[in-house]
Formats: sequence, structure tokens, C-alpha cells
Amino acid sequence: MVDLNLINNCLKLSVLELQVEVFNEIDSTNLEAKRRITDGIEHDLLIVSSHQTAGRGRHNRTWFSPEGGLYFSLVLRPRLGPEFAPLSGLLCACAIAEGVQSLGIDNVVLKWPNDVLVREDKIAGILNELVAITPVDNWVILGIGINQNIPVSDFPEDISYTATSVKEILGKYTSPESLLCSVLNSIDRLLGVVESEKSFTSVLKQWREMSGTLGRKVRIDDGTQTIIGIASELLEDGSLTVITENGRVTVTMGDVTHLRSD
Ligand code: BTN
Repeated sequence: MVDLNLINNCLKLSVLELQVEVFNEIDSTNLEAKRRITDGIEHDLLIVSSHQTAGRGRHNRTWFSPEGGLYFSLVLRPRLGPEFAPLSGLLCACAIAEGVQSLGIDNVVLKWPNDVLVREDKIAGILNELVAITPVDNWVILGIGINQNIPVSDFPEDISYTATSVKEILGKYTSPESLLCSVLNSIDRLLGVVESEKSFTSVLKQWREMSGTLGRKVRIDDGTQTIIGIASELLEDGSLTVITENGRVTVTMGDVTHLRSD
């Protein structure tokens, strides 16, 4: 079980006012976050669980959530308004990348919109959900899953060729509390930048610098169509511009595959 005392000792926050709750088992930290919002919360909330019985990924996929992975949801007010909520996902991806790098892992890159890869293999994902109680009472749930102390041989076959873990790369156990604090301390620092600059411009700059998507040939399935082209630009609202055979297309959501350019 993740140790609450260790977490409280390593969190160094100046923007987030976090109430922290730790579970050994839960269906999904994002589902718990939604239940807590419905019940009425007043502060930023962090829900951590050692494993999940119904972990959820983007596009209604499941998220493999055995003991050993790091699973948490951060519930907060969307900074600068609900229309900026998707940018919080990009901010978290930058923070996770910093956290993974702090363990001594190189070649960490970001895949649009919210994946963290090491070379081409996924090490972490974010399920970013906006909950609007009323038009002016909104919360954003940032559900983060990091493949930490899970051997790749334990992964189900459908993800075993495209996923990796901290344990696989470093060949040793690493502390979940330290990685959690490192990611949350980075999120807090980046939120501080957003609040002081009243814009996500610096965060977007950092995302572009760590991007493995920009300049790549990509296939994007947005639910209604498949787009193939070169990912060229991350716009200020977080959407992605792709140069296709038929011209420039801007995508606001979708499932991206990095393709080999030939
Ligand atoms: C993705 O598909 O890449 C997003 C994965 C997000 C998984 C995390 S684990 C903690 C939180 N609770 C969930 O059920 N999902 C998110």
C-alpha cells in the first residue's frame, strides 16, 4: 500500500491545496473522483490507489492496473476556465516526463495529446475529464497511470509490444511515493507558471520541446475519420495541425499512431 506519511513528507506544494486519500484497492481513481465531486468537495483532492479493479483509459479502453503501477487522480479547478481544461492534460504530461527523467530514464518523449513514451513505448497515460456541476462550477479530473514496478512480461498481449515500465528500463524497484511526489511537485510548479503568466504559453513551449509527435508522420483516428500526414504544429488551444495530401487539418481529439516515414 502506498504510504501516506511518505507522501506528505515529500510533497512540496505552493499552488495546490491537496487533501490526500490513499486506497489499497478501488474500482478506478477517476470514478472515485467523480463520486467525490458529486458528493461535494471544496478543496483540490488527490486519490491514490495501489491497484484498480476497473482502471479506465482513453477511448473507453481499460487500463491495466495491477499492484506495482502508480494510479492516481488529481481533482482541481480548471485554471483560467473550463475551456483550458484540455491544456491541463498537456501540463501533466510534461510533469510526468520530468518525474520519469528524475529517475534517470533518458529518451522520454510526449505523444499528442497525453501519452508519455520512452523511445516509442508507452510508460504513462492521462485520462483527463471535465465535470461541470453547473456552467460556473467545474472540476477537472487528471487521472494518471504510470507503469512503474510492473515487469513487461506481466502485461497483457495487446499492450506488451507497445508499452514499457520503469522497472523494465532500470531493472530495479523504485519508490512509488517518490515518483508520485516528483510528478505532483512538477504539476504544482507548472500550475504556478500558468497562474502567474495567466496563460499556458510556457507549458505549451515545454510540451513542444519534449514532443515526439511534431515532425512525425502520424495516423490519427478521431472517431469519425482517419487522417494520415505529418504532425506540424501544436496550437495555443492544444490542438494539433497535420499536413495531409489534401492540405492542412486541425485535430482537437483523437488516437495517434506514430508511423515510420518512408
Ligand atoms: C490512457 O488511455 O492513456 C489514459 C490512462 C489513464 C489511467 C489512469 S490510472 C488512474 C486513473 N484512474 C483510471 O481509471 N484511469 C486513470
